[in-house]
Amino acid sequence: MAETETSRDAAELLQRVHAGDVRALARAVSIVEEGGAAAADVLSAAHALRGDGSAVRIGFTGSPGAGKSTLVDAYARLLRAQGEAVGIVAVDPTSPFHGGAILGDRIRMQASYSQDDGDPGIYIRSVATRGMLGGLAAATADICTVIEASGKSRMLIETVGVGQDEVEVARLADVTVLVLTPGMGDDVQSIKAGVMEIADIYVINKSDREGAERVESEILAMQSLAAKRGAWTPPCIRTVATTREGVAELDAAIARYVAHIQAGGGLTARRHLLKQGRPAGAAMRLDRLVLDHLGIAVKSIAEARKFYETLGLHIESEETVEHEQVRTAMLPLGETRIELLEPTAEDSVIGRYLAKSGEGVHHIAVHVPDIAAAMAAMQSAGVRLVHEQVKTGAGGHRYFFVHPASTGGVLLEVVSSSKEGL
Ligand code: CO
Repeated sequence: MAETETSRDAAELLQRVHAGDVRALARAVSIVEEGGAAAADVLSAAHALRGDGSAVRIGFTGSPGAGKSTLVDAYARLLRAQGEAVGIVAVDPTSPFHGGAILGDRIRMQASYSQDDGDPGIYIRSVATRGMLGGLAAATADICTVIEASGKSRMLIETVGVGQDEVEVARLADVTVLVLTPGMGDDVQSIKAGVMEIADIYVINKSDREGAERVESEILAMQSLAAKRGAWTPPCIRTVATTREGVAELDAAIARYVAHIQAGGGLTARRHLLKQGRPAGAAMRLDRLVLDHLGIAVKSIAEARKFYETLGLHIESEETVEHEQVRTAMLPLGETRIELLEPTAEDSVIGRYLAKSGEGVHHIAVHVPDIAAAMAAMQSAGVRLVHEQVKTGAGGHRYFFVHPASTGGVLLEVVSSSKEGL
């Protein structure tokens, strides 16, 4: 955790960011990376300074070895020559900590800018922390917001590969560039379903190599099969990033796409659309959430189990959780379970619930792969939690509760297994 910043400290820090203080920017990004209350203060100060966000976010994704870093480097230099201020965020979710392979390149690149060019109009940041899994795309978006507050007009977001996390990161960009190469097993067919569709623009990099024609015709064939997506057909641009060949054409294609989406409501509207379906802006890994159980408060497990047994269910495990003063019985039901909760004391959470509301559904529980990340994502999204620390329950499983005020009136338990997500 970063040291606590009051919102006034955050506003002052962001004023320095806005004035071009690079150290202040690095610190502000670090605070946002770490999450929590201080991050929320820094973000709201960044939002205030950035206004409606006129920066264009351009995502570069594609298989490792496609030359994305070189392409991003060449494109950043072109943008600088046009007078744009550029932020680069390099995302490597496979790296357990700062310092993955992608970052070595970036450090050299930053050095080349600051030594050769002495250029304050470019800022490079890497995102590679394991703790962000579950909220990597949201964290990357937040980092972009902070960098944009320093006056950057173009954000280039580069991912190391095309895994699920990286596709989500690519989707947060206004423009997504999918970088392919001829040959090298990089056939269009080998790119997973769901990845080709995210491209607004295809780039065939290293197109001086043999096979560029074939990749392009494969893309065109695939496009003719796919349903037309609005009025935009993603163009296919050939580049040789090492010689900057085709980079101006890529820039022109990006400009055409930006004009296209601005005609259809603009970048802000698109960002809003992309965020729909994600809880409070925190890009939780919905594909990996499962309904773990339904908790039902009952006066007596011995009485209540009779009904469920006539349904054909059976009690798989039964135990008393002393510190919650509750006895629980778990009954598997399809992919999920019913949890019967019987108070062991009248003055307990379940005892008081029964006295007030009678028997009934008490909570629903979702299982997440990484509970610390889930809690951090919810905290930074301003979700109200019943307790701000992950607790350990029976069998070593970990859990916390989300207040009904944030969920539409249902007490929500978030659980993970004992050895997962650490
Ligand atoms: Co429960």
